Amino acid sequence: MTTNKKPTGKAIITGASSGIGKALAVEMAKKGYQLGLVARRLDVLEQVKAEIIAQIPDAQTVEVATLDVAQDETIYPVLEQLSNTLGGVDIIIANAGVTAINRTGTDNFASDKHVIQVNLIGGMATVDAAAKIFRASGGGHIVGMSSVSAWTGIAGSSAYSSSKAGFSNYLKAVRAELSNKNIQVTTIHPGFINTDISTGMSKKPFVISAEKAAKEMLSAIQKKKDSVIVPSFPWSIITKIITVLPEKLVAKVQ
Ligand SMILES: NC(=O)c1ccc[n+]([C@@H]2O[C@H](COP(=O)([O-])OP(=O)(O)OC[C@H]3O[C@@H](n4cnc5c(N)ncnc54)[C@H](OP(=O)(O)O)[C@@H]3O)[C@@H](O)[C@H]2O)c1
Repeated sequence: MTTNKKPTGKAIITGASSGIGKALAVEMAKKGYQLGLVARRLDVLEQVKAEIIAQIPDAQTVEVATLDVAQDETIYPVLEQLSNTLGGVDIIIANAGVTAINRTGTDNFASDKHVIQVNLIGGMATVDAAAKIFRASGGGHIVGMSSVSAWTGIAGSSAYSSSKAGFSNYLKAVRAELSNKNIQVTTIHPGFINTDISTGMSKKPFVISAEKAAKEMLSAIQKKKDSVIVPSFPWSIITKIITVLPEKLVAKVQ
């Protein structure tokens, strides 16, 4: 699908079949970006593409491809192929992620391992592939979807909060490594966003819609911020307080 309107830029989003990734795709299509959307479910991505075309008559190109970020060796070839199809890429958003509730020592380590494989290893491999693409092209912008849970270990979500703490630190180091290569790195830390990532998201405190979150996230991306918390209130305050409160007190409110 193409129009005569001048494109704003070209972006690839992982985990674009639902939630934040889908909402970002819609928001970026509205702003005139050409898009490459990836996730495991190709049929759902085709539906997202159809929704974008129906909603936004002057939307630019939308390409879709299947990618399982748990198969980390497949990430670079898929992203490179998609970049070639788009005729280059300016922004790569490492958004794909999963969560799981698990109590340590309850014969469910496979679940924790999967969370780390998708969120941390898959996220790092996506960023690594993006950096390789941008080193070759002379520059670009990498965006990593972390979480406010990066600030503390969360009971029942030990693997998830560890995956996000690891991903945030990785992105911070990569930002420093790539600062003289014309490659920007933005870390996004969402609070509670109403998506399908786990049941009962709509009832979480301070929850906002994926559409509202996507608007704030795209604004931060376009401003090329290093790091952003979405929504800022109350999470910017909570993330500051949580690091100075006694651990036993934090554990009580989890
Ligand atoms: N919602 C929140 O409150 C919240 C808060 C903090 C951080 N985040 C982060 O935001 C990101 C998006 O989450 P969401 O809330 O939008 O959840 P979501 O609606 O469940 O979307 C997750 C996306 O990731 C994709 N995905 C899952 N496993 C994948 C894999 N192995 N390979 C490729 N794609 C995979 C899913 O697509 P397929 O199933 O089609 O593969 C889907 O498109 C995640 O990194 C999450 O940790 C969310």
